Amino acid sequence: MVRPYAAVVESIAELRPWMPWAKETPTLELEEEVMRHAHVQFMARSDLMLLLFHRASGELIGASGLHRIDWSVPRFEIGYWIRTSYSGQGLMTEAVSGITAFAFYTLGARRVEIRCNVENERSAAVARRAGYTLEGILRHDERHHLTGALRDTMVFAQVRDDDE
Ligand SMILES: CC(C)(COP(=O)(O)OP(=O)(O)OC[C@H]1O[C@@H](n2cnc3c(N)ncnc32)[C@H](O)[C@@H]1OP(=O)(O)O)[C@@H](O)C(=O)NCCC(=O)NCCS
Repeated sequence: MVRPYAAVVESIAELRPWMPWAKETPTLELEEEVMRHAHVQFMARSDLMLLLFHRASGELIGASGLHRIDWSVPRFEIGYWIRTSYSGQGLMTEAVSGITAFAFYTLGARRVEIRCNVENERSAAVARRAGYTLEGILRHDERHHLTGALRDTMVFAQVRDDDE
């Protein structure tokens, strides 16, 4: 089983402010549990975790996925993080664009969302570069996992009509 453990450990300082699961550096045992659970969810089509590999080096460079799925629409939310040594090259924008096309044209999506904290400028920049439109800001919809402060969340989306 491929595990993103080394990439998570390398990137923990960049992940910690934005990803609740990165509050503590995960152990290898916990990471294996997470990956086994993700595999089960993928088979059940309840959540689709995707691992990202660099074409030239073959290295695991991050993870993404289609989450909060509603197959009756169908609707998905894309999440993502990149390995620190591969950031700043446009690779996540390329991945998110590809996963968006996969959601619309292979899975029949009618709506794909990206949600991020209003302070997460790098994540918002990925959404904008990948062609997403900011639909609104959900005020005070969460508490920050490190500080407990109230968080505002940006909701970006792309949609496709039934007759497109
Ligand atoms: C959000 C996150 C994935 C963004 O990563 P990133 O490396 O900035 O995004 P990309 O891979 O798309 O790279 C964009 C950068 O590459 C540059 N770039 C170079 N070539 C490029 C190309 N061909 N196409 C697009 N951008 C390119 C862009 O100008 C941008 O540079 P900048 O950082 O100086 O503005 C990363 O910061 C991260 O993992 N954060 C922690 C987890 C997180 O917050 N996830 C999102 C939760 S909602």
